Amino acid sequence: MATPIDKKETLQRIQALPQVKRWREGNYEPGAWFTAKPAEDGGIWGSWGHRFQPNRRGVSLVELNRADRHPIPAAGLGLMVDREAGAAPDAPRYDYPLNQKYQVWSYNVESLYEEAVSRQWSATRDIPWDKLEPLPEDQERALCQFVSFLHTVEFVPGDTLPFYMARVDPSFSEVRLFMSSQCADEARHMEVFGKRMYANGGGPGVEPGAEALLQFDPRKSVLPQEIARTVATVNPTWDFLAYSYFVQMIGEAVVLDFFRFGEFLGRNPCDKEMFRRIMQDEARHVSFGTMRIKYYLENAPRQEREDASEMLHYLASACEASGTGFGLLLQPSAIEPFALLAAGSVGSLDKGWGVVREFWANAVEEYINRCERAGIPRRGRCMLPEEAPF
Ligand SMILES: [Fe+2]
Ligand SMILES: [Fe+2]
Repeated sequence: MATPIDKKETLQRIQALPQVKRWREGNYEPGAWFTAKPAEDGGIWGSWGHRFQPNRRGVSLVELNRADRHPIPAAGLGLMVDREAGAAPDAPRYDYPLNQKYQVWSYNVESLYEEAVSRQWSATRDIPWDKLEPLPEDQERALCQFVSFLHTVEFVPGDTLPFYMARVDPSFSEVRLFMSSQCADEARHMEVFGKRMYANGGGPGVEPGAEALLQFDPRKSVLPQEIARTVATVNPTWDFLAYSYFVQMIGEAVVLDFFRFGEFLGRNPCDKEMFRRIMQDEARHVSFGTMRIKYYLENAPRQEREDASEMLHYLASACEASGTGFGLLLQPSAIEPFALLAAGSVGSLDKGWGVVREFWANAVEEYINRCERAGIPRRGRCMLPEEAPF
């Protein structure tokens, strides 16, 4: 590899650039950006004359978009400037695979993003760690295993979201902003679980074994390979749609049920607060995914709507029948500590398993309701047993 080492040559090359020549000659006249007319009048400037008034709360995306006289475009521009900006005729265009609004948008994305930024919290500062109290040893062990398992699960969205985010056309910046906030949330969840394991006399537990039924390789696709291949052969852009179903509507939703349970069972203000805060974050992730699918099914071109609906039912049947995603409900390294926490001691495990059975029935019922909201009616079609199979 030849390394350029001649500083003089470098200077000459820079000074030969047309703009640098102009500036060296004392010609400081601003370029087209200064004189161009807005696009509405046939120019290359973007838009002009926005009369937005920031209010007491500042500038929220919800109000900004509502006040804008230009609707969000149906197709992305393939540019990295703001979607209302103009572009020089020779500006480079980028080929983002997810470049249609219906492919990425979610009904509540602006308000979800605003909620996400206003509710960021610190795992260091905002958890009342000083309120932790020593637990009976079996309870501390169960809690440590439970959060060790959840720590593992946080990697699923954390590792895979950026892959899809980079494919979303920047014209839909609200979607990218929300996905970034989700990445920040997932990192904080890993952090807080990681800290909790060490903070009360216990320590990190065991990585789940093969029964985990997570069955995916985040370096390829988050979906099990066979299912991912089938989906991609019909439509290569459906990977992201399938992602929202598989990760946000099953995985994160089941985990949200776990968190709710964690808050309920927490024995001190510290554990309760940890699960309460995580729950709020997780509810946003589930809501984004659910409302995304709904938006897709209501706004895609007609034929694609029908095809996508058929694909989602195929995906739902395949995931329900194979335990993909729902394997979280059968994962010993999560469910056994769960039962022990609910039991209160090893002596009353029967009682704990009764709670787990109820949890199963609730999780399935909530899943069916969520599918309903997303526009994939599964009642009467869902392959999962409504009652716990144990
Ligand atoms: Fe999370
Ligand atoms: Fe999440």
